[in-house]
Amino acid sequence: METRHPPTPEAIVDRFGRRLVYLRLSVTDRCNLQCAYCRPAEGVAHVDREEILRFEEIDRLARLFAGMGVTKVRLTGGEPLLRRRLPELVRRLTAIPGIRSLPMTTNGILLEESARPLREAGLERLNVSLDTLREDRFEAITRSSGPGRVLRGIEEAQRAGFQQIKVNVVLIRGFNDDEVFDFLAYADARDVNVRFIEFMPFEGNGWSREQFLPYREALERITARFAVEPLPREHSSDPALEFRVPKQRGRFGFIASLSESFCAACTRLRLSADGRLRPCLHQETSVDLKGPLRSGATDADLARLIRGAAHLKQEAHPDYLADLAGPQVSGITMTTIGG
Ligand code: GTP
Ligand code: 5AD
Repeated sequence: METRHPPTPEAIVDRFGRRLVYLRLSVTDRCNLQCAYCRPAEGVAHVDREEILRFEEIDRLARLFAGMGVTKVRLTGGEPLLRRRLPELVRRLTAIPGIRSLPMTTNGILLEESARPLREAGLERLNVSLDTLREDRFEAITRSSGPGRVLRGIEEAQRAGFQQIKVNVVLIRGFNDDEVFDFLAYADARDVNVRFIEFMPFEGNGWSREQFLPYREALERITARFAVEPLPREHSSDPALEFRVPKQRGRFGFIASLSESFCAACTRLRLSADGRLRPCLHQETSVDLKGPLRSGATDADLARLIRGAAHLKQEAHPDYLADLAGPQVSGITMTTIGG
């Protein structure tokens, strides 16, 4: 079903007429995995603790965003489950009028112990990143042990009441593309939705054309074996093209950020853990909200800054595949942005 966002004077609208109603809120820049595709090999410097937005500050900004028409706030990281007292933040955010959807994207490592308190606090939806079902590969990509921990986390989350969990798989040719059918079997076995994500270039993350697997190729491999049924997008801004295998539970889909960019339907803004508002995942620019917030800015001042950041949103991210000189992605690190 299409969600309509009636125009209001408060709405955040960018220069291309896109209404921005989805805020990705990073609650920590830290992560307990070190996935090669998500960070530069030398690692990233962490933000000092006092620079991280406190719950009261997040609450104030979230209320302001909600007043400006934001209806969906996704918790991200780093790894959001590393943020202490996260259920308390969830409780605060679910109490904000206007925020109708509060999902979270996590790597699932700490999910087994945190799923239940988060569900009880009011969190409703989960996306879990898991790129391989094999122990040796998991260690190779994350430098840590454990698809088992993540799978147990997903099962516990289901027992705690989370439904339609989405599993995000970044597809890397020659690394995990032979696991596509294992993930489809997993989707059926656990009744989860699996989304294969095209590998995107970020600073120092080892992206190469050879490792990039266009979604069409993965889809063709699947349609060669199964008669799949395409599903309509629930919201026009949903990034995934979704399908189901008849008689199987769960869905599968593709987030084709590079071969079929979904920028035209983008509704997102991103707030970093240290309070910088970023207009686009693929744009280095950001606008500081924390400084003004801590030095007495009024809601009207902050709203002006938010509109200013929205105004900076570019029409579309560069066409990395067309750029034969190789993608220019300096200064952009996925791990701190949170996807
Ligand atoms: P839903 O709210 O469930 O639709 O989730 P989502 O897909 O927006 O969030 P998630 O955190 O699961 O992100 C999945 C993947 O989508 C990320 O890994 C990115 O690869 C991709 N993605 C998210 N936002 C953007 C964006 O603004 N631009 C591009 N190009 N890709 C994005
Ligand atoms: N390309 C595509 N997706 C990525 N993610 C992290 N780095 C990349 C990349 N280079 C994904 C994670 C997670 C989501 C938030 O972002 O796997 O599911």
